[in-house]
Amino acid sequence: MSNTILSVEGLRVQFSLRGKVLNAIRDVSLTLEKGESLAIVGESGSGKSVLCKTFMGLLDANGSITAGHIWFGGEDLTQYTTEKQWLGIRGKKIAMVMQDPMTSLNPLKTVGAQITEAVVLHQGLSGEAARAETVRILGDVGITDPERRYKQYPHEFSGGMRQRVVIAIAVACRPEILICDEPTTALDVTIQAQILHLIRQLKEKYQLTTIYITHDLGVVASVADRIAVMYAGDIVEIGRCEEVFCDPRHPYTWALLSSLPQLAERGDELYSIQGTPPNLFTEIQGDAFAPRNPHALKIDFVKRPPYFEVSPTHRARTWLLDPRAPKVEPPESIRKLREGGLWK
Ligand SMILES: Nc1ncnc2c1ncn2[C@@H]1O[C@H](COP(=O)(O)OP(=O)(O)OP(=O)(O)O)[C@@H](O)[C@H]1O
Ligand SMILES: [Mg+2]
Repeated sequence: MSNTILSVEGLRVQFSLRGKVLNAIRDVSLTLEKGESLAIVGESGSGKSVLCKTFMGLLDANGSITAGHIWFGGEDLTQYTTEKQWLGIRGKKIAMVMQDPMTSLNPLKTVGAQITEAVVLHQGLSGEAARAETVRILGDVGITDPERRYKQYPHEFSGGMRQRVVIAIAVACRPEILICDEPTTALDVTIQAQILHLIRQLKEKYQLTTIYITHDLGVVASVADRIAVMYAGDIVEIGRCEEVFCDPRHPYTWALLSSLPQLAERGDELYSIQGTPPNLFTEIQGDAFAPRNPHALKIDFVKRPPYFEVSPTHRARTWLLDPRAPKVEPPESIRKLREGGLWK
């Protein structure tokens, strides 16, 4: 029996901006298994948020899906046209914790009232039962003294605690899929680790399927089952966590991994990826990463690579995996990783 909860096929998303067309998602296919945690990593602008917004009908008004399917619960979400249809999905079945916790909370309402709204709407509870459920969820997301905290306003919470409240609202909706869009960038590293740990606990407790979106490959090593690496609106490599960390195949993944501070030897200068991402307003020829890729082949500038399978769970879109390509060894830092650097 298939365990797939969400399946994306050949998805393309475009935005129109001042008469021009921006290709934000360029032919993405992805299946999400029930109960797994997938991390989506990539530079700013690579399409991580836009991709996940299509699962909830949250694209900005100037954006549209121009090709592909998103299968969820036997329906193709790309065919949804009305808000009413989306209300059956958004929050209810798929919930998203947004990048900025301050903008997703209402400063004028108590934290308790905001969580209770979701409890009333999605769990059908009311009165004392709804209040009790809210207090219980506050405890679940690690807020101490929830009875007192219930009556406080967002500004009385620290950044990390506010992030927990936003997660509490998402969990109160009892979704099947929880998407966390960079739950951590604005937070310091210790709090970041705590939030990731919390999401991991909630995933077990509520049997959630989770997607984490982040710039930082380093933070997901401990929490993700699988990693999808995005570049210029495309998933260029996807595999199980250990496959992407220990046997990465796409030069962009090499570059991302090489720039992890965890990998640098003391005193070494930190590696940073040269060049800039491509202009998404023009049709990209070949491999979008080619101009920044020190290992690029001629064909990389001409023809877009297909996916090559590395294992049944691991594939990468790079001509380097074509049997005709010359053998290119990954950079030194990647070889060190394979020998155990990050896993020690
Ligand atoms: N409403 C919009 N109009 C025009 N372009 C947009 C719009 N929304 C997103 N884009 C563009 O789509 C591309 C993907 O954006 P997206 O927000 O998904 O990036 P991201 O990977 O989430 O980046 P970050 O890490 O900075 O959050 C970017 O080039 C962005 O400028
Ligand atoms: Mg984003």
